[in-house]
Amino acid sequence: MSEPRRLYIKSFGCQMNVYDSHRMADALARDYRETDRPEDADLIVLNTCHIREKAAEKIYSELGRIRRLKSAAKKEGRRLLVTVAGCVAQAEGEEIIRRAPAVDIVVGPQSIHRLPELVARAKQGGAIVETEFPVEDKFDHLAPPSARATRARGVAAFVTVQEGCDKFCTFCVVPYTRGSELSRPVAKIVEEIEHLAAAGVVEVTLIGQNVNAYHGAGPDGRAWSLACLIGQIAAETEIARIRYTTSHPRDMRADLIAAHRDIEKLMPYLHLPIQSGSDRVLAAMNRRHSRDEYLEVIARVRAARPDIALSSDFIVGFPGESEDDFAATLDLVEAAGFAQAFSFKYSPRPGTPGAEMDGQIPDALKVERLARLQQALERHRHAFNAALRGRRLDVLFEKPGRFEGQIVGRSPYLQPVQVMGAARRIGTVAPVEITEIGSNSLFGELIEPVSAHAAKPLALATAGGA
Ligand code: SAH
Ligand code: SF4
Ligand code: F3S
Repeated sequence: MSEPRRLYIKSFGCQMNVYDSHRMADALARDYRETDRPEDADLIVLNTCHIREKAAEKIYSELGRIRRLKSAAKKEGRRLLVTVAGCVAQAEGEEIIRRAPAVDIVVGPQSIHRLPELVARAKQGGAIVETEFPVEDKFDHLAPPSARATRARGVAAFVTVQEGCDKFCTFCVVPYTRGSELSRPVAKIVEEIEHLAAAGVVEVTLIGQNVNAYHGAGPDGRAWSLACLIGQIAAETEIARIRYTTSHPRDMRADLIAAHRDIEKLMPYLHLPIQSGSDRVLAAMNRRHSRDEYLEVIARVRAARPDIALSSDFIVGFPGESEDDFAATLDLVEAAGFAQAFSFKYSPRPGTPGAEMDGQIPDALKVERLARLQQALERHRHAFNAALRGRRLDVLFEKPGRFEGQIVGRSPYLQPVQVMGAARRIGTVAPVEITEIGSNSLFGELIEPVSAHAAKPLALATAGGA
């Protein structure tokens, strides 16, 4: 029998792409085995991101390298097929093949289930561009991963529950590249998560561009909210930890806030992008909420779950952003106290209203504002982390650490936590006392359960206790 062909797949951008990349590998698993060496590959897939100019341009430098691999393969008598998938594929379509003739297939995010068929067609010759939004739902046509593939991907998994966006923030390409909002049915998601749990997955992050706008069909035929979906996953599956991302402030419904109080498996972490602290800029961005409304939402979330960590996204230098507007953003950072945040310079994207607006900000000013903002955000991140010293956190161990005898996991707040511990703990949750705060990781010691012998009198005294 001939060797299986080899697939090299590289993901850029958000977690939705990570998920889609796995599903593409699953769809191709009959004919292709994954490799992490592009020079060995018979098929290369770049799953691309269009969110900022830099992200999109990165693909072309990557394609330059791949063109050389393609000629090298040809000299060896092999044909290397090159696929561009994801949001650049959707946004640029044929233009990609014009700029990079080494590309054989361009496939948008909603058509990835067609990839095996597109690969078969591309082998016959001729470039293929598939960027329609198909009528069928890709999720109904994607092969599930094997238990072996799931295990190889680790104990924490992403599950797409909602895709696309109807919000049309004026800076953003996502509504154009991912199409309109679609929520998967509850039963399908629960089934997928049961499979993941059976293969050893301990934590799931439910993902969507607007995950808290989720409104998938429930088993009763009605549209269920994200809170109901989380409740069902908590009750019906063996998964120990549940997260969700990314949320929009307008869709933080009361039942979702209450879920943070009531559902123990739901981790105390919320990524809630605000983008700017200025009402004027928020309006120009079409975010459709004010600064005060945002602050009120997070106050309600904190009332429900006082130990929750909040995270956010910011854009500096949106057209028309004045020094006062920017000062309002800095002020919001102080008022909100984020545990962590991402911040970006505004990047005008073709086809979005923001790109056409007056008052574009010079790059030097964006650079300067970004540095000031990041300094403030870093200060808050350090303060949040420093407050954890001496605290006891439940850590899900994910992999061996850098040093012999060390293992690394994630706290409920998503920080990496390093401890000395046996590899058999990987895939389990255990309490850790935080002893040291590094710049990116926390360090700690496993809190060993009292040995069975020593625990006996205690167990008698607290009959039925865990
Ligand atoms: N759906 C999410 C975010 C999707 S994009 C939401 O509604 O918040 C992730 C982040 O990229 C955004 O939150 C925003 O901060 C940033 N971003 C999006 N478009 C951008 C642009 N044109 N320039 C700079 N940053 C951008
Ligand atoms: Fe983009 Fe706004 Fe939709 Fe988020 S809500 S994906 S920022 S358009
Ligand atoms: Fe990028 Fe598309 Fe995600 S543009 S951020 S890969 S939805």
